[in-house]
Order: sequence, then C-alpha cells, then structure tokens
Amino acid sequence: MTPIDSAPARFALFGHPVAQSLSPQIHAAFARQLSIPLQYTAIDATAEAFADLLARFAAQGGGGANVTLPLKQQATALCGSLGDGARRSGAVNTLVRNDGGWHGENTDGRGLVRDLTERHRLDLRQRRTLLIGAGGAARGVAPALLDAGIGDLFVVNRTPERTDALADALGEPGRVHPRYMDDLKAMGEFDLIVHATSATRSGSLPSLPMSLIGTRATAVDLNYGDSAIPFLAWARAAGAHDAIDGLGMLVEQAAESFRLWHGRRPATDEVYAELRQRHALLITAD
Ligand code: ATR
Repeated sequence: MTPIDSAPARFALFGHPVAQSLSPQIHAAFARQLSIPLQYTAIDATAEAFADLLARFAAQGGGGANVTLPLKQQATALCGSLGDGARRSGAVNTLVRNDGGWHGENTDGRGLVRDLTERHRLDLRQRRTLLIGAGGAARGVAPALLDAGIGDLFVVNRTPERTDALADALGEPGRVHPRYMDDLKAMGEFDLIVHATSATRSGSLPSLPMSLIGTRATAVDLNYGDSAIPFLAWARAAGAHDAIDGLGMLVEQAAESFRLWHGRRPATDEVYAELRQRHALLITAD
C-alpha cells in the first residue's frame, strides 16, 4: 500500500540508446489504468557506466528497472538471485528490488509467446524454428519458445562463439542446434523464424536466403518501427504467411514486468492499439 503523501515509487529503463524507447509511456499508461502512482524514466547507460548508475538509482529509492540493449547479459552479474527464465537465458530484462539487492527476471520470452499465441492466435507447437542472433534479446526469448513447444531450434549468429554459448546455456542438445551463418543455404525450410539481432538498427540486415521460408512460416522481428522493416520485407518477399514486428512483445513484456513490481497485470489491448496506430507495419511483398 502506498501512503497518499509519499513520493511515487521510482522505476527506470537502463540501456544505450534509450531516448526513443516507448517503455516510459507504456508504464505510464498501465499506471493510469490501475491507479498506481509511479515514476518511470529512461536512463542512458553504457556498459561501462551501468553498474554505477544502477547503484545510484537503488540509493535514491529505485524499486525496479527494465534493462535493454546492450546490458541484458551484463545485468545478470548484478543480481543476487535470478528467476528461471533469466537463469536459463543468461539475460535479464527486469530487476526487482529485493532484500537490499536485485532479483533478475526475464519477461521478454513470456511477452513474445503471449503476443504470438494470444494476440496473433498462432500455434507454435512443433514448429521448426530458426533464431537469428545470440545476444541478450535472442537469449531472452529462447527458453520461452522451447517451453511453448516449438520443435527443433536452430541458432545462427555473426559471432559463432556466442551461438555455441547460447546453445550450451539452453541445455537441450538433441533439440537446440548451433549453426554457422554460412550454413543457412543448406538448412531447409522453417515454420518460425525469429530475427533477434540489432543489425537493422544500423541498417544492415544479415544476408538470408529465401529458401528458409516454409509455406506456413511465421517471421517475427523482435525490433519494431523502422528497424523491423528490412527483415519483415524480406520475409514477405520470400512468401512468409505472417510477418510480425516486436511491438506486441514490447507491450506484453512490459505488462509482465509491471506484474512483478506491482502484483497486478494490466490489460494490454488498448495500449497496444494506441501504439500500433503510430507504428503501423507498412510492409508489402512488392
Ligand atoms: P540485444 O540485447 O539486442 O541482443 P546485444 O546483446 O548487443 O543486444 O546483441 C546484439 C545482437 O545483434 C548479436 O547477436 C549481434 O551479433 P554478434 O554476437 O556477432 O555481435 C547481432 N548484430 C549486431 N550487429 C550486427 C550486424 N551488423 N550483423 C549481424 N549481426 C549483428
């Protein structure tokens, strides 16, 4: 219970860059919906500055935080305890203040699965899946995709050592297969392809053969806005059945974080619809 005359609880997003993030307005909308007073700000933090800025935030009464690119893996080391998804993925996107320290969770995967299965009504079971990327975003979603019942999971990444590290961390050698980017042409068709690199934020999509797209393929980009356009345009041109950006996942992971901090999960449809109006997916197969 928050006393009426106390300052609103403080929450923040740490990442670099964060200026364009939608998270502050998503959390503000959830707070209005559930009448929970809070302050949620974006704090620009490089990898070098992150630990100090987080300690300062805690000293100033910070109650919880989100962590985004490029800090999700680094954040695990700053946590006194980790939830199951964060432990299995080695990446944290949500910090909860706990006994003077931080408890780390990862809500990205649950958010993605909820967006795909409930908003888009997709059945993920037994889908032969390709995950492109092995950084914090890829790590965050991989355990939840496996839990959702996908079939085999193939992982590729520009830096092969990170592919191997992610496959090892997931610990299901019969089901999770690390591969080289150069192998993509010989890997056959997939039913689900998840693009989880940050490459398109600087405008360069890794080279992908169209033979990856199966007839019922769903292509998902964990990015949204302009960064999602190159991959989803490629997927449409290759004949994907569905092309989905990361906006829905963003709203769903935020709702999961909100629940961890405040004990109540906000409804997400209205917030999603409002953001979608401003971030329309204008992608055609032409
Ligand atoms: P995030 O939290 O978004 O995953 P990250 O942990 O910094 O951020 O990881 C970025 C991901 O995008 C990695 O998979 C990275 O590949 P490397 O592990 O080889 O660095 C990938 N990435 C970034 N720029 C890329 C590019 N130009 N081409 C291919 N992959 C790229």
